[in-house]
Formats: sequence, structure tokens, C-alpha cells
Amino acid sequence: MTAPQIAKGLAGVYSDTTRISTVVDEMNSLTYYGYPVQELAEFCRFEEVAYLLWHGELPTAEQLKKFEQEERSLRNISPKMLNVLRQFDHAAHPMDTLRTAVSFLGLEDHEVKDISHDGNLKKAIRMLAQIPTIIAADFRLRKGQEPIAPRADLSMSENFFHMYFGTVPQKEVVRCFDASLTFYAEHGFNASTFTARTIISSLSDIYSAVTGAIGSLKGPLHGGANEAVMHMLLDIQEPSKAQAWIDEALSEKKKLVMGFGHRVYKHGDSRVPYMTKYFHDMAKLRNGQKWIEIETILAKTMLEKKNIHPNLDYPVGPAYYLMGFEIPIFTPIFVMSRITGWAAHIIEQLEDNKLMRPLSVYNGVPQRPVQPLAKRKAA
Ligand code: COA
Repeated sequence: MTAPQIAKGLAGVYSDTTRISTVVDEMNSLTYYGYPVQELAEFCRFEEVAYLLWHGELPTAEQLKKFEQEERSLRNISPKMLNVLRQFDHAAHPMDTLRTAVSFLGLEDHEVKDISHDGNLKKAIRMLAQIPTIIAADFRLRKGQEPIAPRADLSMSENFFHMYFGTVPQKEVVRCFDASLTFYAEHGFNASTFTARTIISSLSDIYSAVTGAIGSLKGPLHGGANEAVMHMLLDIQEPSKAQAWIDEALSEKKKLVMGFGHRVYKHGDSRVPYMTKYFHDMAKLRNGQKWIEIETILAKTMLEKKNIHPNLDYPVGPAYYLMGFEIPIFTPIFVMSRITGWAAHIIEQLEDNKLMRPLSVYNGVPQRPVQPLAKRKAA
């Protein structure tokens, strides 16, 4: 018998088909239902992208109006949820708070067991509407401030700024934020999406799948990288220190430079040039030239010495920082967006479900008899 092939990290393994997104190699472009993501970021608001991911087509004006009305009507969290948020340990990372809060959304939903297509869409829009409210309320409670109620006359992005800061900034800032949500919305069978698909494959429920996905996204090798990038930039502080910093980092064996590398893209993340433009807009508006200079030095050296390109988290980290968001909020913002991709995949998985259950090659000790406790000696 030939030895089974092991694909560590499932690298190079195709586990299913998907119609939701792909990277078109010839154009090095990520597409959602065939649309290049950079065009979606330029011409559509994030709500249109959410609709596309859940319905397979961009909405007409009338469809968008109905979708937005529903999302806006669901933004308020329950008094019980607010109470739960008040009880949390405010020293915990906001991703841990959010993971627990989304699990609590499942507890509150008496139709949690309904995993039909329509049932899941209903729950997905509830999460889309309430996750931003949870993030903003948690942020304010941590600072000893009262949460700000959502407003139904604002877009999702505008409303998030309103709930977080109490004001909506100029349109260029909202535009940059909205584009980042579009870029973050979906990316195939990444670790968190695969986690969500694995959980729903046992016919569990959408809240459990999203809770697990949040746990996966949190890690610094995945969504947590946008926070790690900003910590790195703050550690470097000045462009004059960037070259020495990166040379030192690369001299350490196996040291990862955050915001670089990608499992799928080996010639550069297609979203990066577009998001970088938005980041540069932010830098102009908010006096952030030094972050551009530091990033340019790091990127040039990484390419020359390691042939590794930046990923989306590289421009997003400093862009969010310049918008005024605190660093531990960066990955929760990613969740605000990726809930759209996760829900689309959960629904797709259930359309033709097969329980996820890979095999492993055993390399532990051979079979042996159990010794009763009285006869057992320390190994
Ligand atoms: N910094 C330094 N070296 C890196 C690197 C980085 N960010 N990313 C990859 N490499 C190196 C690896 O050490 C490895 O070197 P080796 O062949 O000498 O062992 C080589 O490049 C191949 O990387 P590998 O770990 O096999 O790629 P992967 O597909 O398994 O990993 C990531 C992809 C994203 C997990 C990895 O690039 C990484 O950890 N990046 C930093 C975290 C990050 O930005 N995550 C966000 C992803 S969107």
C-alpha cells in the first residue's frame, strides 16, 4: 500500500467547489460572483456587496432599498445583550468579547435551529446589523462611556463611525472605510471560512459557525495581522529606523514580518494596490506620511531579500489607525465585513452538504495493554 499523502495546513487541497469568489490568475484579481473586487470597492457601497454575496447578483435600486431598510431596522441590540456587554471583563480583547456576544445572539434567537436557506439569510442580516452595534457599544463601555444608539438614516459605515466616535467624519474617510469592508468581505476557503463550513457541515447552526469563525480569524496569522501590522509600525516609529528594523528582523531565523505573505497569492495580493491608494488618501488627510515612508522601506526590502509581497492587512492597519480607531478594534472591524462571506459559505455548504471529516496518519505509540492504577508506574 502506498503511504497516504499528507497536505500540511491543507495547502494545495481542493475540498469543494464554490461559486462565491475566486482569484482570476490572468488578471491577478479577486472576484466576487465574477466582479473584480476593486471595481466593487470603487462603484458600490458595502451594503451592495453584502447583497451580492448573499444573492449572487448586485441589487437593483429597489432591492437595495428593501435590503437596507431591513438591515437598518435590526441594528438595535437587546437590553439583555447590553447588560451582558456591561458585565464583561473590560481587560479582555474585543475579539473575545465579540465571539462571546455572537454566541449570545444565538441564545437569544428562538429559531436558532432553523438552518433553512431563508432562515439563515434572516439570521445573517441580523448579525450584519448587530455586530457593529456590539463592537461600538463594547468599545465605549470599556472607556466608561455610555453606548451610542444606532441611527437608521446612516449607511453601515457612517453609522459605525457615529456609534464609535459620536460623529461621522468627512466623506473621504467613510469612503476609505467602506472600501476596506468590501476588500475584507470574502476570500474563498480561508481558515475562518473553512472553520465556518466545517461547523455547519455537522448541521449545527449559523451562530455556532460564525462564533467558531471569529475564533479562527482572531489569530495573528489570519485576521489578527491588521493589528499586528500597526503594532509593528508603532514599534518602528520613524522612517529613519525602518531599514535597521527590517534588516534585524530578517536576520532572525523564521521571524515573521506581519502583513506579508499569503497562502493563495505568491505574486502579490490583488487587493493591496487598491487599498494602498485609500490608505494614502487617509495619510494625506490625517498627516500620516511617516507610515507610508516606513511601509515603503519594509516592502522594498521584503521583496528584494525574500521575494514576499504585502497582503491586505498591510495598508489596512495604518488606514484604520489614521481614522482614529484603537488597534484592538481592527480585527473586530474585519468581522463586521467578513460576516457576509461566512454567511454566504454557510448557506452554500448546506446546499450540498457533506460532513467534514478528513483522515490522519497515526504516528503515536503502538497498541499496548492498559495497566490498572495500582500497577501503573510513571513513564
Ligand atoms: N515574514 C517572513 N517570512 C515569511 C513571511 C513573513 N510574513 N511569510 C512567509 N514567509 C516565509 C516563511 O518563513 C517560509 O520560509 P521558508 O521556506 O524559509 O521556511 C516561506 O516564506 C513560505 O512561507 P509559508 O509559511 O510556507 O507560507 P504559508 O502559505 O504557509 O503562510 C502566511 C502564509 C500568511 C500564514 C504567512 O505568510 C504569514 O505568517 N504571514 C504573516 C502573517 C500575516 O500577515 N497574515 C495575514 C495573512 S492574509
